[in-house]
Amino acid sequence: MEFYEVIEKRRTIRDFENETISSDVIERIIEAGFKAPTNDHMRDWHYVVIQDKNIVMKLLDIIPKGISDKDMDQLIKDWNLNDTLQQECYRNAVPKQYKMLMDASVIVIPLLKQKTDILNPDNISHLNGFASIWCSIENIFLAATAEGYGYTLRVPLGNEGEYARNVLGFPHDYFMPCFIGIGKPQKDAAKVQQKNIVLKDRIHWNKW
Ligand SMILES: Cc1cc2nc3c(=O)[nH]c(=O)nc-3n(C[C@H](O)[C@H](O)[C@H](O)COP(=O)(O)O)c2cc1C
Repeated sequence: MEFYEVIEKRRTIRDFENETISSDVIERIIEAGFKAPTNDHMRDWHYVVIQDKNIVMKLLDIIPKGISDKDMDQLIKDWNLNDTLQQECYRNAVPKQYKMLMDASVIVIPLLKQKTDILNPDNISHLNGFASIWCSIENIFLAATAEGYGYTLRVPLGNEGEYARNVLGFPHDYFMPCFIGIGKPQKDAAKVQQKNIVLKDRIHWNKW
């Protein structure tokens, strides 16, 4: 697939077919992740790849299985989601957080080495490792798309990250930025309408 076609095709998918992905393809996708730029030249990243459904079930057990309409309305208010397309996105995404990952063919957990307290950085460079792994994660999203698969992600809430550490046994100096699920998109998988960006309003030549 041509590069700009991949860019156009990449979407967050939350409705997956029940289909496996070969380990070769998964490795190729993650290898693309390791080609991303990195702040300290070390690429000190690890990816835990989980295909065993029993481990997936245990890992995801902490994630809410759904949300009532009333709680969804409250969440929209509490999180100040005022834009209608944004509301549509959250109304689609929030109820699917457990199922999308459960139905994905494979769960991939990125891990970065974090030497300082990521939630209390002294300066912005202390977040460079975090920024770098998101470059790696985006490469993975694009590679999954180029391979004809879809992906989803969830940023861990509350103690989901610590819970994942206990289930998967990763070391204490590694930090998990998100859950990734990769799988075959259902034919009618929801794709929430994207916000329209008017390029000329967003590019500021020479000066804002
Ligand atoms: C940093 C980051 C955090 C995100 N967190 C979540 C999440 O927790 N759950 C989820 O379903 N989607 C999550 N998303 C996906 C966004 O909802 C999605 O990228 C956005 O709505 C734009 O849609 P698109 O990816 O289809 O273009 C996240 C995306 C990013 C970049």
